[in-house]
Amino acid sequence: MPKDKLVTVIDVGSCKVATIIASITEERVSVIGVSTVLSKGIRKGVVVDIDSAVEAIAESLEKSQRMSGFPVSSAFVTVNGSHIESINSHGVVAVSHQDSEITEDDIKRVTDAAQAVSLPSSREMIHVIPRDFIVDGQEGVHDPLGMSGVRLEVETNLIHGSSPAIKNLAKCVIQVGVSVEDFVFSSYASSYSVLTDTEKELGTILLDIGGGTASLIIFCGGSPCYSSVLPVGGQNITNDLAIGLRASLDVAEKIKLKLGKEDEIIKRTAFPTNEEESVQISRNELDVSEFNLDASTISRKLLYDIMKERMRELFTLVALEVKKANYTGKLPAGIVLTGGGSLTYNIIPIAKEVLKMPARIAKPRGVTGLIDEIEGPAYSAAIGTLIFGAKQIKTQGRQLSPRGNLVPGFIKGAFGWVKSFLP
Ligand SMILES: Nc1ncnc2c1ncn2[C@@H]1O[C@H](COP(=O)(O)OP(=O)(O)OP(=O)(O)O)[C@@H](O)[C@H]1O
Ligand SMILES: [Mg+2]
Repeated sequence: MPKDKLVTVIDVGSCKVATIIASITEERVSVIGVSTVLSKGIRKGVVVDIDSAVEAIAESLEKSQRMSGFPVSSAFVTVNGSHIESINSHGVVAVSHQDSEITEDDIKRVTDAAQAVSLPSSREMIHVIPRDFIVDGQEGVHDPLGMSGVRLEVETNLIHGSSPAIKNLAKCVIQVGVSVEDFVFSSYASSYSVLTDTEKELGTILLDIGGGTASLIIFCGGSPCYSSVLPVGGQNITNDLAIGLRASLDVAEKIKLKLGKEDEIIKRTAFPTNEEESVQISRNELDVSEFNLDASTISRKLLYDIMKERMRELFTLVALEVKKANYTGKLPAGIVLTGGGSLTYNIIPIAKEVLKMPARIAKPRGVTGLIDEIEGPAYSAAIGTLIFGAKQIKTQGRQLSPRGNLVPGFIKGAFGWVKSFLP
C-alpha cells in the first residue's frame, strides 16, 4: 500500500463536505477513506464564512484520514458557484521543429496562445481544455503529437471563475494544512464519473443539481463547449415545501426525502421480491404522522404540485442557457441529471416536458473499494474529481507520498499539463 500513489479529493458543497482518499494503480482507483459531514459556511457553492467552512472541511478531512490510516498533504478540490463561466478560444503557432514534426512543446505553446485571451484581473482560469487541433488546415485532429506540419491551431474551451471566490476556497483548504493540487469545476468533474463517450460525442447536457446550485456543462464532439452555474438547487425545493406546508425547513426536508424514498419502494413493489418490499404504502397519501403537523397524511399530488414549479423553473433556465450557447436542437443525447437534487420525486417527466429531449439520472461509476457510502448521485462530482486527479497524477508520473511534506500556501498552477485533457 505505501508504494501506491494516493489521491485525495475534497468536495466542498452547499449541503455536504465530502473527502475521499484513494490509492491508484495503472488499472484502478480504489477508495480507502471516505467521509461526509454537513457543510457550513458555504452558500450557493461559494464560501461565505471562512471559519465555519474550515471547521467542516477539517472534520471531514480528519474522519477520512482516520479511516484510510494516511495523513493528507494535498488534495484536488471541486469549485462551484454562479461566478463560473466559459469561453471558446482559438490559438495558432508555427511548428518550431526543423523537420516540422509537432512536439509536446508546440502543443503547449499553441494551448498557451489560445488562453492568452484577456480575462479581467478579477477572473482566474480553472480549465484550459483543447477541443480540437488543426494541422495545416486539417481539422479534427485529436492528438497532433508526432504529426508533420508547419502550422498548428487549436480550439479550446476555457472555464474561468472569480479570483476572490477561488482564493477564499483555497484559503479554507490551506488552513486545514492541505495544499491544493488543482481545482476542478464541479459539473466538469461529474462528467468524468457519469457521461459515456457516446453522449459526449453526440452532444449532451450534464446538470449536477446540488443543494444550492445546478451546475451545467454542455458536451459536443467529445469535449466541453459551454459551462454555467444556476443558483437553484434542492434547498429551493425544500424552502417551497416549507412555505407550502407551513412546516419548518427541517421537517420539509425530511418529507421531501421520505417522498423520494417511498417512491422508490412503490416502483420496486410493482414486482415485490421479498416480504420487506411488499410493504403496503398508499399511492395517494404520504404518512407524515411522525412530524407533528396538523394532518397525519398529505396528498402526494399536493407535494408534487408544490415541487414541480421549481423544477420547471430550473429546466426553463437550463433551456435558456442552451439557447445562449447556441445548442438548441443540437444535443441528441439529451440531458443527464446527477447530484443529490436529481433524486427529487418525479423529476424526469418535467425535464423531458420542458426541454423536449431525452433525460436520465446518473450515478457515479469508475472507482472501486469502499464505495458503499458514496454510490448515489450526490457523489458524482467528488468521484469525478477523483478520476480526474488520478488521470493527472498518472500522466505526470508524480508520486504522492502519503507522508509528503506540506507546502502551506502553495496552489499548483490553475491547470495541469494540457496533455491530460487531450480529447
Ligand atoms: N432522495 C432525495 N430526494 C430529493 N432530494 C434529495 C434526495 N437526496 C438528496 N436530495 C437533495 O440533494 C441536495 C444535496 O445534493 P448534493 O449533496 O449533491 O449537494 P451539494 O454538492 O452539497 O451542493 P452544491 O453542489 O449545490 O454546492 C439537498 O438539497 C437534498 O435535499
Ligand atoms: Mg455539489
